Amino acid sequence: MKEYDPYSYEIDADPYPVYAEMLEQGVYYNERLDFYALTRFDHCLAAFLDWERYSSAQGTVLEMMGKPIPSLMIFMDPPRQTRLRNLVNQAFTLRQIGTLEPAIRKIAVAHLEGALERGRGRVDIVKEFTAKLPMDVISTLLGIPESDRDLVRGWSNDVLHRDPGNPNITERGMKAGAELSRYFSESIAERRRRPRDDIMTLLTRAEIEEEEGGLQRLDDREIISFFNLLATAGNETVTKLLATAFYWLETWPDERRMLVEDPALCRSAVEETLRYDPPSQYQGRVLTAPVELDGTTMPAGARVLIVNGASGRDPRKFPDPDRYDVDREIDLHLGFGHGRHFCLGASLARLESRIALEELLARIPEYGVDRGGIERMHSSNVRGFAGLPLVY
Ligand code: HEM
Repeated sequence: MKEYDPYSYEIDADPYPVYAEMLEQGVYYNERLDFYALTRFDHCLAAFLDWERYSSAQGTVLEMMGKPIPSLMIFMDPPRQTRLRNLVNQAFTLRQIGTLEPAIRKIAVAHLEGALERGRGRVDIVKEFTAKLPMDVISTLLGIPESDRDLVRGWSNDVLHRDPGNPNITERGMKAGAELSRYFSESIAERRRRPRDDIMTLLTRAEIEEEEGGLQRLDDREIISFFNLLATAGNETVTKLLATAFYWLETWPDERRMLVEDPALCRSAVEETLRYDPPSQYQGRVLTAPVELDGTTMPAGARVLIVNGASGRDPRKFPDPDRYDVDREIDLHLGFGHGRHFCLGASLARLESRIALEELLARIPEYGVDRGGIERMHSSNVRGFAGLPLVY
């Protein structure tokens, strides 16, 4: 069978033929890179639920697992992760997120109309639209005023930017990171002095009861690292999901026609894209104890990739899995993970993705993709386009 190498450009181009072989085989082991991979839906689901043996505390991305990692809830196990999660959950309820719909639509329409007008028939939808929307949405969520958003988006982009072939942050990115921290410290201090009706204020006030009976709040450092987590977890993923959806809708024109005729289906099209070709392809874990699965024993200390990207194509769970079907009934997919670390931003991601689909299809329902101009992102776990030219 072919090797599953998450760093290979061939996998970035199309991992699904390799996943099909892995799904057939069951538990996969890569001897050269020394990791196991789970692809079947039931295996992935069980692993997500078994957080005691599948630990996140040594990182969740292959190249960082076992190295020093930042102190973020996504890289923690319960009970530490649960305490932080309970604190921030108060700011991420469906009701809180739902109130953002008009603001998100306004941002999406402004970026989209500007991009289509400037493009005059050909637009790189990633660079001009899908990469801009998520950071502005996170800014709105936090309560960053409109006048500061370009600044914050610019700094965040610099922090996330990598020069080709170099996985490290650039010098410009380091400076931008310091600017962002300073900006956030000042904003938090301001909220403590003069509370507002926004999530930043909520986070300064959120408190939970500790087991010992006292109350716990987030300090400034914790709030700022939480913002950094949002900016990394909530930016690239939405950027990639949207471009992927635009690509597959053009590839399956009958599905696109259905959405154009019935925009209410945009909601299920988002779910189908998360099943069919999700932005976050695997979640890494390190075993705290041996796990036996279908006759294979994975030892304590083993690195295991839960390949949720493959689980969506498991024929045991999804009939005709390689068909992109915007009207598919899906009771559960693993595109947002599952269990304790289930994506905190899922409602927000769903909302902004649905709005972006609705608004784009309302304007250019018959766009084409200039396949020669496509650029792929290269990363071990994030899949999607770095550039996707649409013609209209
Ligand atoms: C389509 C877009 C998105 C996808 C596909 C996605 C996917 C995921 C996945 C698979 C996980 C689980 C990680 C694990 O189990 O180790 C996760 C966690 C997380 N996501 Fe998302 N995400 C998206 C958007 C967002 C947005 C918009 C935000 C916030 C604004 C966000 C914030 C987070 C956070 C904070 C966590 C960590 C939760 C925890 O550790 O308890 N995500 N996401």
